[in-house]
Amino acid sequence: MTTQTPTADAIMKRATPLAHQHAHEIQPFGHVVRMPIALSEVACRESVDNLNQLLADTITLRDLYKKHHWQVAGPTFYALHLLFDKHAGEQSDLVDAIAERIQLLGGVSVAMAHDVADMSSIPRPPKGRESAPAQLSRLLHAHEIVLEETRAMARLCGERGDDGTNDLLVSDVMRRNELQVWFVAEHLVDVPLVKA
Ligand SMILES: [Fe+2]
Repeated sequence: MTTQTPTADAIMKRATPLAHQHAHEIQPFGHVVRMPIALSEVACRESVDNLNQLLADTITLRDLYKKHHWQVAGPTFYALHLLFDKHAGEQSDLVDAIAERIQLLGGVSVAMAHDVADMSSIPRPPKGRESAPAQLSRLLHAHEIVLEETRAMARLCGERGDDGTNDLLVSDVMRRNELQVWFVAEHLVDVPLVKA
């Protein structure tokens, strides 16, 4: 039996990346597959739905921090510029943890900006710049929306036996948001700057 030497054309074809491929989704958004994690289908479905709402709001809060990081102005510029970026980074870590929890529960994480904008319950800010006090107030309102839903979701998934999601919500999302609220809120206390 003779083996044919491949032609240069055949070799080049094999070496070329198969770009521009299109296919159907492998899992539609809103559908949950069963994962072998000893958790009921109802518990997984409920946690996935709740976590996707929280994910949309957390992505929005992260982006709000980045917007304010870039657009902040005034005598507190430097402190706020740094603080907003720190909080954006921490919210980004939460985004990743929430999204990956959704996937491991068998769901599909919301990801893209237009879908996030459709789902988020945080009011849309203007495209232009706002003053620092308005930015700070807007952030506190967004945090409170996130904290309110996180507490409610933590109670529900605890009742359904989804302790992993409960732990993520309480230990990571709730505690981080509460701490960030403190750091933001203290900037809105009207104390004298120089003379007591
Ligand atoms: Fe930056």
